[in-house]
Amino acid sequence: MTRHAALATPGTRRGELALGDCLTLLPELAQKRPFDLVYVDPPFDTRAHHGVRDGRGERARGERAYRDSWGGVDAFLAMLEPRLAAVRDTMSERASLFLHLDHRTVHEAKVLADGVFGRGAFQGEIVWIPGNGARRRGGPSVTHQTILVYARGSQMIWNDDDPALREPYAETSQRMHFGKRDASGRQYRERVIAGKSYRYYADIGRRRGSVWSDCPSMRANTPLLGEATGYPTQKPEALLERIIRAASLPESRVLDPMCGSGTTLAVAARLGRAWTGIDVSPVAIRIAKKRLGFTD
Ligand SMILES: C[S@@+](CC[C@H](N)C(=O)[O-])C[C@H]1O[C@@H](n2cnc3c(N)ncnc32)[C@H](O)[C@@H]1O
Repeated sequence: MTRHAALATPGTRRGELALGDCLTLLPELAQKRPFDLVYVDPPFDTRAHHGVRDGRGERARGERAYRDSWGGVDAFLAMLEPRLAAVRDTMSERASLFLHLDHRTVHEAKVLADGVFGRGAFQGEIVWIPGNGARRRGGPSVTHQTILVYARGSQMIWNDDDPALREPYAETSQRMHFGKRDASGRQYRERVIAGKSYRYYADIGRRRGSVWSDCPSMRANTPLLGEATGYPTQKPEALLERIIRAASLPESRVLDPMCGSGTTLAVAARLGRAWTGIDVSPVAIRIAKKRLGFTD
């Protein structure tokens, strides 16, 4: 196991990165202080060998990041199950797991994860729309991915009032219902529920639903934008920022056991959370180290 100490940069906590199979490395982490949030973005069983992209977005010749071929869905699930169980054992009582998959395996993986965490632990799912458009011909194009959410204990951290979990009211609703203004000019509506009056401000917005279409994957995969590292299947920071804001606290520890280019870790560091990342691909660890400001 190779562990690296991160540079402490202003406003961020120290974190750690490890190169290796998370199945081997997680039991050691389970002995330490538990994590409040785990994001797992495993291979999707695409049957591809994913290569790193260069600065122009072209595939770099010869540099392979990771292989995503398992010999069928059953073999993929057999890989995933013990790793989810190992993840579960690192989680605190208030922790949650966000498991990111797509249509290839999410339905079978849901049943698998129900078995690992208990069916009652399932909290719901986020439908993430990367926004790349439809590509398939001769059948339905699936233009979303799914993030399954599981709680470890009876009450996961969920910051209902964080602005990241708010979205603007529909325009018609704003026009129809938010006609009143308070002394400072803020628009609001008043509703009486069970005899009690509640005030809702238009600028606070309504609670965000489970379909997220405003975190485009393009940001993470276009070399023209600063976020892109060239790592294949890199996720956008906006997606991880919403998850981390929603389901962790400033003192929380965040784990990504298949961290790829380190998106979760970079956002956790920016938000002041302690973080741990693992990846079995030396290319992933090299890219993540650079992104996170490691010097060794
Ligand atoms: C979809 S990518 C993660 C991308 C990442 N979320 C990002 O934004 O860059 C999946 C990663 O899982 C890693 N991986 C696959 N099996 C693993 C294992 N057993 N232990 C640790 N990492 C693994 C791969 O090397 C790959 O980097």
